[in-house]
Amino acid sequence: MSKVTPIKSVKGMNDLLPDVSHHWLKVEAICAAIYDRFGYRHIRTPIMENTHLFSRSIGEETDIVSKEMYTFEDRNGDSLTLRPEGTASCVRAGIQHGLFYNQQQRLWYTGPMFRHERPQKGRYRQFYQMGVEVYGWDSVDIEAEVISMLQQLFEELGLKNTLLYINSLGDKPSRDSYRAALVDYLSEHKDRLDEDSLRRLTTNPLRILDSKNAEVQSLLDSAPSILDFLSEESARRFEELQTYLQGLDIKYEINPRLVRGLDYYNDTVFEWINHDYGAQSTVCGGGRYDGMVEQLGGQTTPAFGFGMGLERLIEMLMEQAVLPEKVPSPDVFLVSVGEQARAQALQLQSLLTKQGIRVQCHMGQGSMKNQFKRADKSNATLGLVIGESEAENAQVSVKFLRREHAEQFPDLGQEIVLQNEALNAVTTRLKSL
Ligand code: HAM
Repeated sequence: MSKVTPIKSVKGMNDLLPDVSHHWLKVEAICAAIYDRFGYRHIRTPIMENTHLFSRSIGEETDIVSKEMYTFEDRNGDSLTLRPEGTASCVRAGIQHGLFYNQQQRLWYTGPMFRHERPQKGRYRQFYQMGVEVYGWDSVDIEAEVISMLQQLFEELGLKNTLLYINSLGDKPSRDSYRAALVDYLSEHKDRLDEDSLRRLTTNPLRILDSKNAEVQSLLDSAPSILDFLSEESARRFEELQTYLQGLDIKYEINPRLVRGLDYYNDTVFEWINHDYGAQSTVCGGGRYDGMVEQLGGQTTPAFGFGMGLERLIEMLMEQAVLPEKVPSPDVFLVSVGEQARAQALQLQSLLTKQGIRVQCHMGQGSMKNQFKRADKSNATLGLVIGESEAENAQVSVKFLRREHAEQFPDLGQEIVLQNEALNAVTTRLKSL
């Protein structure tokens, strides 16, 4: 036995093994196809950025910046951070490459994000987000388009029991007057606030609305609502969004306490929640962030977007059993005995796979019997066999591996064909199913 202690992955950072990762590839492909349909283009940014990109945009007082970032000095002494989200990076890239200059952009991205949170189901330290960001529209119609695209995505993936929650954080004057009213109210009940909320009362009072503390929650039941403080324009925008959603037949609920965990939002914010899933029930969240481009040194550019947690989405889909259980089986398992036969088998595999047929070829030693056992285990549809005599005559034997197929198609029983006719024999059988 080896004396070396095996090294494990970092806490909260998970491997995605083949039994699960094939679901990921499928989900990512469906999402990418939908984004493409709606005219969204793909962007990839580095996973590391200069630290102040995040502190300047997400907000110094947020949990993400104040306690969750993976920040370190690199060998030059520069402070770098593993990205905790994708929005700030998109804005940085857009400014750097002139994407916002007299242009509108519909963008999407996917990749790992990093937050030093306490790991639990649905909450990890490395997690994948798929996000969409749009730039250059201050109209509400684009918000409805993004939400409609998400709805289509959930429908196509088959995700059930999720509900859209929306809120408006208003423009700056709306938020300023609401903040004052909220602080007045909460200051009268300081004795019922926990330590976190007391601190936020001076640093970031709106975040208190997010508190999970039961006592604070019950205090908030009688707190003023942001919706009563919206300016005329912000209220009109919120109404307009709802009219679009109703027209699109998208069910939603208004949650006036929805503030989101990042400081950059104005007007519309939204989250999609699956209450069956447990504590980390938000599958995606987003909103409008018209101030960020200017804040990071670009010219004023309206912006809207969302981030969706892929672990949560895929775990939800697996729990709801809407994804196929197994890794798909091969179409063909290729059995071959002897050096000459193996060389021919490799050539046949190359030929069939070029036609899109999924072929698993036995490798290494193994008697005919042993290889057939593996063929059965692979759950392949067809078995192709090149024994020594077939190899001599450039032939291959073709047959259904599963009895039910053999019984269903007696005319397509075991057959020995020339290897250069194998493609035809294989496709005829696969098409018959
Ligand atoms: P966020 O709400 O911080 O927003 O994250 C978006 C989604 O990422 C969450 O709803 C959740 O599904 C997933 N997520 C967040 N943290 C974790 C974690 N530790 N483990 C697993 N999944 C997680 C943003 O990041 C914004 N950038 C969204 C946005 C884009 N707003 C405008 N544009």
